[in-house]
Amino acid sequence: MARVLHIEDDPNNRRLVQKLLGAAGHDVIEAEGGVEGIQLARDILPDLVLVDINIPDLDGYEVTLRLRGMPALQETPIVAITAEGDRDSTLAVGCDGFIAKPIDAARFAETIEQFLRGHRESADDGSDRLLRERTQKIVERLEKKIVELSQTNQRLEDIARLRREFLQNVSHELATPMTPVVGYLRLLLNEELGPLTDLQHKCLRSVEASTQRLRAVVDTLLDASSLETGRMHYYTRPYDFRDTATKAIDQIRAKLDERDVTFIERVPEEPMPAQGDPDKLLRAMAHVLDNASKFTPTGGEVAVEVRPDGEGHLLFAVADSGPGVRPEHIARIMEPFYQVDGSVTRDHGGVGLGLAFARRVTEALGGGIEISSPPAGEVAKRQLPGTLVELRVGRVPERPETQV
Ligand SMILES: Nc1ncnc2c1ncn2[C@@H]1O[C@H](COP(=O)(O)OP(=O)(O)OP(=O)(O)O)[C@@H](O)[C@H]1O
Ligand SMILES: [Mg+2]
Repeated sequence: MARVLHIEDDPNNRRLVQKLLGAAGHDVIEAEGGVEGIQLARDILPDLVLVDINIPDLDGYEVTLRLRGMPALQETPIVAITAEGDRDSTLAVGCDGFIAKPIDAARFAETIEQFLRGHRESADDGSDRLLRERTQKIVERLEKKIVELSQTNQRLEDIARLRREFLQNVSHELATPMTPVVGYLRLLLNEELGPLTDLQHKCLRSVEASTQRLRAVVDTLLDASSLETGRMHYYTRPYDFRDTATKAIDQIRAKLDERDVTFIERVPEEPMPAQGDPDKLLRAMAHVLDNASKFTPTGGEVAVEVRPDGEGHLLFAVADSGPGVRPEHIARIMEPFYQVDGSVTRDHGGVGLGLAFARRVTEALGGGIEISSPPAGEVAKRQLPGTLVELRVGRVPERPETQV
């Protein structure tokens, strides 16, 4: 029994070869294109390669040249099956034989076995010239591809730049008019512009609630913009890490209660003095808690622990009993705008910026973010099954990144 790699994009042809060689007791592994075929050949080291000439991405000539360049495959028989290719060109690039389409079903398995036993067709004279021509065509094709790729790349860079500018403009345009709205609303509510009736009060409080929501959206947009441009402004001042954590926790508690999620917290009594930007840190912590809350189903559990980590950092750890994050997504969810399942956003809200923001902020404050799923350890003495997010900051960042 031999292991045969068949590189062919037409499913009917693949089925036929599979049937004929399978019946003769061989194991046929299939690839639909040139690049996939090369990768498979390298991985499985087949006893024989059957290659169609007219296949997507790299064609059969190119695939053969490439396979012949690999030391492990130099002696492996490669047989071209094709309607278009000419026999001499296929032999010139390194094929050992050529089978014309349509294949002769009655003799196919036997022909292949001859190649497996060592049969080789030999090239006619002039194969050097053919090889040169073939190689020149390949170089031409590669050149065209490179030009196409660099044009596409340029277009992508332009789009990325436009996106950054758009974000910057939109967030600025929205943030500017918010200031007088919030200011006058305060004046009105404080009755500094005259007394209000109960009804007017009620209306204005409802306006205020909506304004706060709008503000949160504008803040997120501003964060997105500074994440995209890489310009985030930090202030450095003394603060209490424990105090900041408590504020973040207080913000989420009501939300968790509402959804019947058990909340376990372990926060030390004593203050945890540090230097840095507590406002940004508070928002980073709030994002992590918000995720734990929104991805944990009703009846679940969220645990928070705040403590020095014993290695010079201050730790804010949040674990949940939610669905967890698969390993291949863990690094990516810390990138701006990346969400494991964009459609879930419709249920939960969010644009995919929370973790990217938390990462930037904690790194700037001399620490970082770590995510494990299932959680790598206990949080508040609970080993939960979902996700663990650990935010760390330095007590006094060595080089506080203060850009104004
Ligand atoms: N605790 C968690 N459990 C399961 N999945 C999570 C959890 N935290 C984050 N994720 C996944 O990581 C993605 C990115 O999270 P991130 O906080 O950056 O954005 P978001 O929550 O979708 O939106 P935003 O934070 O901007 O409101 C989420 O969409 C989700 O797929
Ligand atoms: Mg989030």
